[in-house]
Amino acid sequence: MANTCMAPSQRPSRVLITGGGGFIGSHLSELLLDRGNEVTVVDNFSTGRRENPGIVRAIAERSARYRVIEGDVSSTIPTLNSADFDCIYHLAAAVGVRLVVEKPIHTIETNVHETSVVLRFAAQRAMPVLIASTSEVYGKGVRVPMCEDDDVVYGSTGFSRWCYACSKAIDEYLALAYHREFGLPAVIARFFNTVGPRQIGEYGMVLPRFVRAALDGADLEVHGDGQQSRCFCDVRDVVHVLPKLIANPACYGRVFNIGREEPITIHALAKLVIDTLGSPSAVRFVAYEHAFAAGFDDLKVRQPDLTRIRGAVGFTPQISLVQTIRDLAVEIASRDGTREGQRAAACAANTSANTSANTSANTSANTSGGAA
Ligand SMILES: NC(=O)c1ccc[n+]([C@@H]2O[C@H](COP(=O)([O-])OP(=O)(O)OC[C@H]3O[C@@H](n4cnc5c(N)ncnc54)[C@H](O)[C@@H]3O)[C@@H](O)[C@H]2O)c1
Repeated sequence: MANTCMAPSQRPSRVLITGGGGFIGSHLSELLLDRGNEVTVVDNFSTGRRENPGIVRAIAERSARYRVIEGDVSSTIPTLNSADFDCIYHLAAAVGVRLVVEKPIHTIETNVHETSVVLRFAAQRAMPVLIASTSEVYGKGVRVPMCEDDDVVYGSTGFSRWCYACSKAIDEYLALAYHREFGLPAVIARFFNTVGPRQIGEYGMVLPRFVRAALDGADLEVHGDGQQSRCFCDVRDVVHVLPKLIANPACYGRVFNIGREEPITIHALAKLVIDTLGSPSAVRFVAYEHAFAAGFDDLKVRQPDLTRIRGAVGFTPQISLVQTIRDLAVEIASRDGTREGQRAAACAANTSANTSANTSANTSANTSGGAA
């Protein structure tokens, strides 16, 4: 078996990645290219990130086995020949709390329609497909840590923030139905908070927002009382497990949590960012109704149970949260080119170089030290 999908051994696997120009997709593209695969990306760069075309150009310069098709999934995929691919990672989606709250129609239509097109395409040749889902599918969460087979409870349809969770839940239903009815080798990855270099804060992602504020010496805006906790996993750990899931027939027709188990409160995360970057910034608390809309519902705790993925393919994240903060700071500062940002990032990079040898040993101390 090839290292990614089911290509005959004499040629590299031909991988299609929707949303491959995005945060997780660009890291996955690089990993698969490093392993000798051919990668085709379909991305419309809709998330409005100026950096994405630059990232994909940089990847393209390094590999002739990389091709990018700019366009919507739903209009591009039907023009492709399913015989040209061995497997699909479907990552394209409307993502980010702010985007979801402000553009619910776009969110629902993108997440449901594009996934339906991808599944129909994969079903033409029973091609292995990985569908990116989210811990948001757990809704309000009936217990902690969250297990893949838990019941789900959502808030009222009057609050658009739940449309992301519901649209991703429909994606899961669809993929599981294709598996049951047509034997499609589909696997679902339920990502918990994934963080790392190349993530941007404009659409509500907390860590890049905090790192940018800390580099600028601005206040770090914590929503609510900051006692809500999350588990953050570095994208470079996350992408390593995806090829294992898509290549393992025992994983088809199943849902897998992917993330880190150590929780940290958002207030503690803000303090950790400030300390790690030696920033003069302060923490400022902002009520949810000012940050979003009145009645915004947030979850107190979101923590994965990783028993299933460990049993199926093994999964032990290696990169500490402190290391992720440092690497993200260096990358954000190099994107910006601001003098103050460069200084703080250089400081982070120096500390990083001095401590990288014991990064993984630090992991649990770094995260649980800040946890509630
Ligand atoms: N980052 C996280 O913490 C996280 C957590 C849970 C789930 N996820 C899921 O992982 C996947 C990747 O997320 P990400 O964080 O890399 O986000 P991202 O926004 O960086 O990546 C999504 C990419 O999809 C592209 N895209 C959106 N709609 C498209 C369309 N109709 N046609 C073509 N391209 C389109 C965007 O331009 C973007 O490049 C998403 O499905 C998301 O729901 C991410």
